[in-house]
Amino acid sequence: MLDRQQLLSLIDEMAASHKASAGQISALLSCEDEEVINYLFSQALAVKEAVFGRDIYIRAIIEFSNVCRCACRYCGINRENQNIIRYQMPAGEILGLAYAAIDAGYQTIVLQSGEDLSYTREMLGAVIRKIKAYAPAVAVTLSVGERPYGDYAHWRVCGADRYLIKHETADVALYEKLHPGHSLEKRLDCQQHLQALGYEMGSGFMVGLPGQTMEMLAEDILLLQKMQVAMAGIGPFIPHPDTSLAGAAKGDIALTNRVLAITRLLLPTVHLPATTALTVQGGRAEALAAGADVIMQKATPAEKQRLYEIYPRPVKEEYSLKEKRQLLVTQLKSLGYMGI
Ligand code: 5AD
Repeated sequence: MLDRQQLLSLIDEMAASHKASAGQISALLSCEDEEVINYLFSQALAVKEAVFGRDIYIRAIIEFSNVCRCACRYCGINRENQNIIRYQMPAGEILGLAYAAIDAGYQTIVLQSGEDLSYTREMLGAVIRKIKAYAPAVAVTLSVGERPYGDYAHWRVCGADRYLIKHETADVALYEKLHPGHSLEKRLDCQQHLQALGYEMGSGFMVGLPGQTMEMLAEDILLLQKMQVAMAGIGPFIPHPDTSLAGAAKGDIALTNRVLAITRLLLPTVHLPATTALTVQGGRAEALAAGADVIMQKATPAEKQRLYEIYPRPVKEEYSLKEKRQLLVTQLKSLGYMGI
């Protein structure tokens, strides 16, 4: 057990060297001492500000299909769930939403779906090309799961800039339990393929998965470092009632914020979204204060957002995309940030 003084010096060391062992990380994660935690957050904020200043990056996400071939046990849109209506947007609808988001001022468009192979290499390639033709300076991020190398290569040629594919958990046994028929090794191969193709690759994981320990979380953070990820989506696990994990406990918000802060200390230049899973439960301001620098806003129409229920969350859509972005910019301004 490290005492308060040792933990405070450890934070200084991590902020200066961006290095820590798994043992040191889990000691900090387990710490409930408010003085230590506040210091951790203040140092994470200082590291973030040294890299990004007060800028917060705003992205638009289009959830274009909730059809999925996977059976991930935590996920509400897994193929076993018979209780949801499945939808698949035609290319024209995806493009309409993307153009509207660009017109509303968003600089990054994230295209996300379940692992839906009916969107072929060529179909998605054509969508990417059209978005890039409409707005060459806008970044296109894909998040459509594990696909053959040739698909990734084609989409890169079409202009895709970034790809999100989380490792979800770095523990091999837990990974296999949660992802029937899938392996962590295959996941990491996909991540490497994407990086080799020149994508900015985003990973991430969930906090509070059933059976997860502090040591596993430390390994999750170290894996991000090892893979040199450009982005990391880190959010609390939220049990979905239509999954086999319905009765499991929720991930802890305070712990998730500590994970964010430590990630910021160890990977100073990484983009860290204040994930939706985190902000529907905890505060957005807290996540930003713990080192997050990205906010994703849904550009999916409300009725489809409700069907894209990875985990339960309220969907209320009272504003247009433009108003939503403006409200966020105003809110960020009141917190001393500049939304871009
Ligand atoms: N709780 C929290 N996050 C979840 N995700 C999937 N299911 C859940 C859940 N029940 C996250 C995963 C996935 C991303 C799209 O959402 O990390 O990569």
